[in-house]
Amino acid sequence: MSETILEVKNLTKYFPGIKALDGVHLTIRTGEVHALIGENGAGKSTLVKIMTGVYFPTAGEVLYEGNLLEFKNALDAQNAGIAAIHQEASMFSELSVTENIFMGHHITKGRTRRIDWKAMQKETQALLDELELDIDCNTLVKNLGVAQRHMVEIAKALSLNAQIVIMDEPTSALSMREVEDLYKIVRRLKDAGKAIIFISHKFDEIFEICDYFTVLRDGKYIGEGKVADTNVDEIVTMMVGRSLDQMYPKTDVAIGKTMLSVKNLAQPGYFSNVSFDLHEGEILGFFGLIGAGRSEVMRTIFGIDKRSAGTVSLDGKEVHIADPNDAMNYGIAFVPEDRQSQGVILQMSIAKNITLPQINKLSKYGIINKKREFEVTKTFGEKMEIRAAGWHVDADTLSGGNQQKVVLAKWLATQPRILILDEPTKGIDVATKAAVHEFISEMASQGLAVILISSELPEVLGMADRVIVMHEGKMTGEFSREEANSDNVIKAATGHIEEGVSL
Ligand SMILES: Nc1ncnc2c1ncn2[C@@H]1O[C@H](COP(=O)(O)OP(=O)(O)OP(=O)(O)O)[C@@H](O)[C@H]1O
Ligand SMILES: [Mg+2]
Repeated sequence: MSETILEVKNLTKYFPGIKALDGVHLTIRTGEVHALIGENGAGKSTLVKIMTGVYFPTAGEVLYEGNLLEFKNALDAQNAGIAAIHQEASMFSELSVTENIFMGHHITKGRTRRIDWKAMQKETQALLDELELDIDCNTLVKNLGVAQRHMVEIAKALSLNAQIVIMDEPTSALSMREVEDLYKIVRRLKDAGKAIIFISHKFDEIFEICDYFTVLRDGKYIGEGKVADTNVDEIVTMMVGRSLDQMYPKTDVAIGKTMLSVKNLAQPGYFSNVSFDLHEGEILGFFGLIGAGRSEVMRTIFGIDKRSAGTVSLDGKEVHIADPNDAMNYGIAFVPEDRQSQGVILQMSIAKNITLPQINKLSKYGIINKKREFEVTKTFGEKMEIRAAGWHVDADTLSGGNQQKVVLAKWLATQPRILILDEPTKGIDVATKAAVHEFISEMASQGLAVILISSELPEVLGMADRVIVMHEGKMTGEFSREEANSDNVIKAATGHIEEGVSL
C-alpha cells in the first residue's frame, strides 16, 4: 500500500531579488516515482535542497513521515533517510569511492569506535557489484567518468538505506545503456517501497519511469496528476503556460562554399580516419552513442587535444591549430559538453563569464570597458533568455539550465564563423530548447557553419542538413537530410555499416 511519506505545504523560498519558490505543494507517496517538472529556474533544485537540509525555507513547511522537518544541515537529512543525487557533482574527487560512499556515516568497530575500512570496502564493493558497476571500491573518484560518478552517487543513496531518493537530472550524463541500468535501479527501489523523486527535462523518461507528476512554473505550484492520464502537450502547456508550436524550427538555407575541411584525422585510442567537409550555412549533425569519439574529434580540431595524424583546412588552406586561442583567432567557437567543469566559472558574474573570451577586445590599457561588457552581456544574455536577478550576480546562483545558457551565450558572443556545439540543449527545458534551435537556425542562415553533436535523435534529424554517425571512433554513416531517418542513423550508431555507403 502506498502512503504519504512526505508533504510539502505552501513552501516559499526567497533569495536576494528572487522568489525561487512561492507557495509550493508536493505530496510524495511510498512506492512511487514522482516526476518534478518545470522550466529552467522553475525552482526544482531549490525544492530538493530544502528537502535535504541544504537550504532553509522562508515560509511554509515540509512534513516527513508526519513530522515537521527541521534539518539543520544535509547530514540530518541523510540520517533521516532522504538522499539526493544533486544536479552538480557533490563528491570529493581526491577520495576513493569507498570514502565518498561512507562520508558522514563511517562504520566503526569496537568500543574505541575505530574506523573499520575493511568493512566499508567490503560493503562498497558489494553495492557496486549489486548495481553491476565495473568499478573498484578503491578507485579515486577523479579517475571515474561522469556516468560512473553518477552511479556511485546512487550507490551512496542505497548505502544510506534512504526512504526517499531524489534524482536531479540523473540521466544527463548517461549513455543509452546506462539509462536502462538506471531505470532498473529505479524500479527496484520502487518495488522495495521507496519513494523516488525524479527530475528530468526529457519527456520520454518521464513517461517511461514515472507514476505521478507535479509541475512548477516560476516557483509556483501549477498542478499534479497521474502520468498515465496525461500527455506531452498537456505537460508542456502546464510548464510554459502556452503550447509550443514548433520544436525544431529549421529554416532552409542555401549551402555555400566549403569552410572547414578535415582529412584523416586520428588520435590513437579515440578515433581514426575522420574526414568531412563543413560548408557555409550548413548545420552538420554528429550522432553517436556516448563514447563514440565525437567530442574527442571536436576537441582535437579546436586544439585542446593533439592529433596524431590528419589535416585541418580552413577556406581551402591547411592550418595548424595548436591551442584554443589559435582556434578562436580563426573564428572557431566550441561549446563543450561538460559545461560544469569546462564552461562556466561559478564564482564569477554572468557578465564576466559571457565576456571572458573577448576580454582583450573589451579592454584598453588593461581596463575593461564596463559599458561594452554590459552591452555584450545584455545582447546575448537576452537572446539566450537567461533568467537571473541581474547580469552582475555570480553564476552559482543560477539554476543548472541557466548556467548552460551562460556558456552558450559566451561563445555566441565571440561571433564565430564556425560554431561547434557539443550537446547544446542538454539540461535545457523545452521552451528554451526551441529558442536555442531557432537561434542555431538563425546563425546558419547568416552564413555561419555549425557542427551539432547530439545524442538526441529528434534533435539531429530535426536540425541537421547532413548527419555523420560515429561508432567507437569511426565514421559509420553519412546521410543527407532527406536520407536520414531513425532506422539508418541508429543502425550506424551501433556499428552497422549500410551497404553501398562508402566511407
Ligand atoms: N543560492 C542561490 N542564490 C540566489 N538565487 C538562487 C540560488 N539558488 C537558486 N537560485 C534562483 O532560484 C531560482 C530557481 O532555481 P532552481 O535551481 O531551483 O531551478 P531549477 O528548476 O532546478 O532549474 P534547472 O532546470 O535549470 O535546473 C532561479 O531563478 C535561481 O537563479
Ligand atoms: Mg535544477
